[in-house]
Amino acid sequence: MPTSSTVKIAGASALAAAMLAAVSRPRAVGRLVRGIVTRAAGGPVYTPLPPPQKVKVALCQLHVTADKEQNLKTARKAIEDAAAAGAKLVVLPEMFNCPYSNDSFPTYAEDIEGGASGSVAALSAAAAAARVTLVAGSIPERCQGKLYNTCCVFDTSGKLLAKHRKVHLFDIDIPGKITFKESLTLSPGPGPTVVDTEAGRLGIGICYDIRFPELAQIYAARGCQVLIYPGAFNMTTGPVHWELLAKARAVDNQVFVLTCSPARNPDSSYQAWGHSTAVGPFAEVLATTEHSPATVTAELDYSQLPERRAAMPLRQQKRHDLYLLLDKTAP
Ligand SMILES: *[C@@H]1O[C@H](CO)[C@@H](O)[C@H](O)[C@H]1NC(C)=O
Ligand SMILES: *[C@@H]1O[C@H](CO)[C@@H](O)[C@H](O)[C@H]1NC(C)=O
Repeated sequence: MPTSSTVKIAGASALAAAMLAAVSRPRAVGRLVRGIVTRAAGGPVYTPLPPPQKVKVALCQLHVTADKEQNLKTARKAIEDAAAAGAKLVVLPEMFNCPYSNDSFPTYAEDIEGGASGSVAALSAAAAAARVTLVAGSIPERCQGKLYNTCCVFDTSGKLLAKHRKVHLFDIDIPGKITFKESLTLSPGPGPTVVDTEAGRLGIGICYDIRFPELAQIYAARGCQVLIYPGAFNMTTGPVHWELLAKARAVDNQVFVLTCSPARNPDSSYQAWGHSTAVGPFAEVLATTEHSPATVTAELDYSQLPERRAAMPLRQQKRHDLYLLLDKTAP
């Protein structure tokens, strides 16, 4: 255990740095002060977790085509089937209503905030009909002239609970080799998305977001039980990193991690790795699949979280005198 004086010093110097950074933004100061003070006392305290429970989840690895209406029908059928098989939490893939290509995003994009999104209406109806919590993969969203890669989360009555816009955009430029700039088409989201649902407290990320351990750490610190990443890794990064990253985020944070990819479509210009997977808090693969259309089901037993954390008390044994996770958007 660090002594209380080292904790105070760490907190005080971080606070000083944060105050300097926030000097021109007075509104941010209160937030930072609250954040740092609670952190110096051993980490932020959020509302208590829902009681331990078991939740059956379904990861729908859908066949995605260029026909949006067909994609929505496919999704609805998968949601119905998952609910009939007992799932309470259903997850869809990244960009499940549109081909995964930068040219498609502007054409398929919908205005969610303006209430003019046919996909959101269809998903809301599907969640309500099936009485499931729905983490609806992602769709291209248009808002005030910008495009986002957006995940909508619905409750069991079909209410839109939250929206996560992909935070980390993938840009790569190796001259003569590969140039891929997601940021040319899409804008980054504003921050982490934590959603309290009947199926537990969820932290949402999209695809490339899974490569950033800090986002997952923030979710764990805010009490999330499950991290959910709709994603579409390709045929190079998929085999080496997809499962590894899900296991890494799970074992570092002692949480459940769910990934959901589109099925591989030989007709598509983008070949997705597939392999939608549910991982437990010991980095154990609970259920997975290959690249064909499939629904992966697993039961998440939330009582395993305190058990795993008691058996390996990573949280208590962090050296907050040596390092600090600064959650800049803490509520
Ligand atoms: C999509 O990316 C290609 C290069 O990969 C580029 O030529 C094209 O302009 C991009 N389209 C959009 C809409 O950004
Ligand atoms: C997959 O993406 C990586 C970058 O993440 C890139 O280097 C690689 O060339 C891509 N592979 C395929 C098959 O598109």
